[in-house]
Amino acid sequence: MYRYGKEEIEAATKVLRTGQWFRFGAPRTRHLREAYKFEAAWARAMGVKHTLFCCSGTAALQCAYAGLEVGPGDEVIIPGFTWIASACAPLGMGAIPVIVDVDESLMMDPDAIEKAITPRTKVIDPVHMSGLMCDMDRIMKIARKHKLLVVEDACQCDGGYWKDGRRAGAIGQAGAYSFNWYKVISCGDSGAFVTNDREAFERGVQYHNGGEGLLPGGRKLSIPPFAGGTLRGNEILAAIMRVQLGRLSGIIRDLHRVRARISRQIEGAPGVRQIPYNGGDTGTGAHLGLRFADERQARAFVAAFRAHAGGKGVSAWLPIDSGRHVCWNWEAVLAKRGAWCEAANPYEHPANAASRVSYSKEMLPKTLAILKRTVLIGMNPDWTTRQVDGVARAIVVAARRVDAGPADG
Ligand SMILES: Cc1ncc(COP(=O)(O)O)c(C=O)c1O
Repeated sequence: MYRYGKEEIEAATKVLRTGQWFRFGAPRTRHLREAYKFEAAWARAMGVKHTLFCCSGTAALQCAYAGLEVGPGDEVIIPGFTWIASACAPLGMGAIPVIVDVDESLMMDPDAIEKAITPRTKVIDPVHMSGLMCDMDRIMKIARKHKLLVVEDACQCDGGYWKDGRRAGAIGQAGAYSFNWYKVISCGDSGAFVTNDREAFERGVQYHNGGEGLLPGGRKLSIPPFAGGTLRGNEILAAIMRVQLGRLSGIIRDLHRVRARISRQIEGAPGVRQIPYNGGDTGTGAHLGLRFADERQARAFVAAFRAHAGGKGVSAWLPIDSGRHVCWNWEAVLAKRGAWCEAANPYEHPANAASRVSYSKEMLPKTLAILKRTVLIGMNPDWTTRQVDGVARAIVVAARRVDAGPADG
């Protein structure tokens, strides 16, 4: 869905010509410091003090967990509707993911979060899926009440905003973004970790460049070094991301304009029920959600909508069909194979002995029911008004057909 043009090609080419493609370097060697400049610009745009450019969103999540000292003995609460990385990231740090229900908004259910809290809970990980937003007011309140940390997964919500204007990822103690191919802005693959906490930032930096903990500007860290990995982004990707960032607010504005226009036109039509968005017109606006009485109706709607919309760059699907975005398809997690060998498996770690989580194909029936009767329709920021109205018409026609059909017996 991202927009791109000759500017991205020129920015990448400029870096390629310097021969200085590694993120650390000095201007006297023709190094352009693109990663450093992107980090400063992203921090400004998201309203946070610190940004670290990483190779992926998963890497950004792990930097956040390293930053907040999450490890064996800790539980991280995640929703059942999210990309599998939400479970893999805490497991990679030795912590245990506790999977909870989503509510009618498709986002993490705040009541389910409260019920899942144990003495070992360290982090709530609200995932702003599909550009929609979790109820950050309620989640932050729960976190304060129970003295928990909040790591926002904004990997599907780059540049999305909460109702008070704060950006997704910038509300909790740390946030993570992904810029892989499926996002509103992209360079193929990369991500960013953000925080306002200086020490957490430095630990994230050390973790992402384990050999030598250098701050973005090339200065030394003030924390003692510890072993980490190599999760760096590079100069070529950062140069592309700087151009992409320049496009972000226009994309978000156009997505919201498109969704709002469709929303207005379909409101009240027979068979049309829009899902509630937390905080109103929040997030990136990348998807419009519809709710049906049951799975059969949802599937009938998708078939009728596709036939009517004529397939012109229009996508509609049931979240239940989205592969490893639903927890019942996380076979490694369900089998508690949390690492490459038994000794490294967090589920076997003595510090996690008290975390008696059990996962199964039967867990979270409420989430399953919600995901089966929901349809998400992808918005396109570049649709013309005519196309937008055509999509709205196709929704109304398809919903009327479903509404007139027999209910599940
Ligand atoms: C919700 C969510 N979290 C984390 C990630 C991980 O991002 P990446 O693929 O950049 O590692 C993704 C990827 O799409 C995602 O959708």
